[in-house]
Amino acid sequence: MDRHILGAKQFDRSGLESILSAARAMEQVARSGGSQLLAGKIMASLFFEPSTRTRFSFESAMTRLGGQVISTENASQFSSAIKGETLEDTIRVISSYADVIVMRHYEIGAAARAAHVSTVPILNAGDGAGEHPTQALLDLYTIEKELGSIDGISIAMVGDLTYGRTVHSLAYVLANFRDVTIWFTAPENTPIPQTVKEYLDEKGVRYYEESDLRQVAERVDVLYQTRVQKERFPSQEEYEKAAGRYIVDKELMDRMKRTSIVMHPLPRAGEITPECDADPRAAYFRQAENGVYVRMALLAQALGENQAKE
Ligand code: CP
Repeated sequence: MDRHILGAKQFDRSGLESILSAARAMEQVARSGGSQLLAGKIMASLFFEPSTRTRFSFESAMTRLGGQVISTENASQFSSAIKGETLEDTIRVISSYADVIVMRHYEIGAAARAAHVSTVPILNAGDGAGEHPTQALLDLYTIEKELGSIDGISIAMVGDLTYGRTVHSLAYVLANFRDVTIWFTAPENTPIPQTVKEYLDEKGVRYYEESDLRQVAERVDVLYQTRVQKERFPSQEEYEKAAGRYIVDKELMDRMKRTSIVMHPLPRAGEITPECDADPRAAYFRQAENGVYVRMALLAQALGENQAKE
């Protein structure tokens, strides 16, 4: 496997199974107090956009494995980017200070640019409206853990599917599994990109675009709700056309199968009402927790340490 994680298309089925298996082992390690597997290693977290889950779960993962973290809270403002330093120069320098770099950036393709000059693995923690591959891996882990299998599932991806990077990466990784059906339910001005559909066509994945969320909700095993990405719209007017269009509430959940689950990469901004949280099918907070176990596995793999040691 590539030492960098730049996009979800880089994974094949066997690589994904190996990550899921390592994440299961890491969940046990975390539950039994952690390990010193990555003692002496340093992870740099370099976030040019805000984050709660991705940054904290990576930092928690590194700490639980005995490693150390160097970090800037807001790299656009508090790194020398504000003085005009290029991303390439920043990465060249940080890769001499750390053993792995976890980076979130506002530009599509930034992680690939960083990897081009880095001497250490780059883990893409989100590049603009492009991809969020490590989120897709924790999403797979969650689906397998909650439903027992990824093969054969029917999943609805709902909301802003143009700017929401997590659905792009999730669609790409799901293409490795058998008999998966994807329903894309999006406002007219934020459809799933053509490039994602072309990839699914190439891989023979069944998918539909359907605007009626109530119909879709009754059919699927996973309802993957997403936030309308206000910060990425060209205008307030365009944002308002998409905002509030699809809401998961108790009435919608009542239509869903008893065995189905609701996921969301979070943060949410009103598109799942809090009354849904008590429903056992609401899996989004368990999903966020799984990020730690999957990222423990990814860090161990990136740093060439696959065996737990105390
Ligand atoms: N899911 C996710 O990427 O959340 P954060 O923006 O909080 O990292």
